Amino acid sequence: MRMSQVNDERKAICKGGHFSVSEQNLREYVAQLERRIVELEAELSIAKAQAQDQVHHLQTVLSLMTQVNASLDLNTVLTSIMSAAEILTNAEASSLLLYDPETDELFFEVATGEKGESVRQIRLKRGQGIAGYVLEAGEPILVDDVAKDPRHTKIVDKQSGFVTRNLIAVPLRIDETIKGVLEVLNCRSGTFTQGDVNELMAISSLCAVAIDKAQSHQALQDLFWDLVRAMVSMLDARNPYTRGHSERVTDFSIAITRELGLNEADCERIRLSGLLHDIGKVGVPDAVLLKEGRLTDEEFALIKLHPEIGYRILAPIKQMKPYLAGVRYHHERLSGRGYPLGLKGDEIPLDARIIAIADVFDALTSDRPYREALDPETSIDIIRKDVPNDIDPNVFAAFLRAWEKGEIVEQKRRPPVPSPFAIMDESLK
Ligand SMILES: [Fe+2]
Repeated sequence: MRMSQVNDERKAICKGGHFSVSEQNLREYVAQLERRIVELEAELSIAKAQAQDQVHHLQTVLSLMTQVNASLDLNTVLTSIMSAAEILTNAEASSLLLYDPETDELFFEVATGEKGESVRQIRLKRGQGIAGYVLEAGEPILVDDVAKDPRHTKIVDKQSGFVTRNLIAVPLRIDETIKGVLEVLNCRSGTFTQGDVNELMAISSLCAVAIDKAQSHQALQDLFWDLVRAMVSMLDARNPYTRGHSERVTDFSIAITRELGLNEADCERIRLSGLLHDIGKVGVPDAVLLKEGRLTDEEFALIKLHPEIGYRILAPIKQMKPYLAGVRYHHERLSGRGYPLGLKGDEIPLDARIIAIADVFDALTSDRPYREALDPETSIDIIRKDVPNDIDPNVFAAFLRAWEKGEIVEQKRRPPVPSPFAIMDESLK
């Protein structure tokens, strides 16, 4: 019963200023009013819950879009975009394909689910599948029944085991450049609407800018690591016996760091200090560094300067501060008999203790001019003799666990590292 009806009846009842209905009718009327009040309360409660849902929904999307905008990590950006898109459109799943301008194809950078890895291998040419169509047309598309759309390629569903019923695909565009295509799949409440398309389009350019920013950051990061590796390989290649040494020490150190239960940020710090740990050898003359016979005390004194030289090369670079400990102290020993400073026990930072074991293990398991590489078991026994006087027992235990799990692969079991100077040997023949 509507309120206007209630008012009409009230007027009828009270017509002429006196009651024209029986007490029975009045009771029914009151009962009707009470039922209506209950109905209205229920409607109000539903409306309130819907409004709360909407607010929560908007807060979630806003928070995800803030993450998208703030992050420089491509994986985080893409995952946040996909979550926001799914929440916005009430979709079961989503996929995000990035555009590769070199091959003019779309590819999956992030793929979720059990078979995500196999989906990552799939590349779609321009015009191939619905995503390829959107790349070519540059316009969003809503498909109500995917099975009836001839543009749909079944490759992705087949690889992922996911059955797509309906979808929206929108281009992620900055001006005229398409960075990728975002798809939301299978609307939970039936079919997608034009309103869903509009909502996705509203976030698409923000997503494209975030992707562009993250890709530029990634390219800079890649360039940085490639330059560090080039510098280190130039250094290691001076001596055929130490070729690949810094990369191996880095791998071993990261395996130990993981076994110690440290986090990814710690692993990243160890990665750079591991790669740079012997950078100071650049200051040791060839006559000493490459000498095949026994070193004199004076020559060994020069070798012992390399951690300090490395530290002095890197210390003026403000951003290098977290990596200096591994470089400067990797030859220190708990007993104090190490170098360059003769630090003792807790004075030696953990990063340096980790790199120290990795460094000794690689030295023992690699060929030297005066001896063949020792086998790993013999090398481990030699290191064990220095625990706990010189070598940290916890770090050694973590090293052993990593070794037993097969995460430490010594030089002999690795592919040979080619020398960048081989071309000179060829031309001198
Ligand atoms: Fe060293």
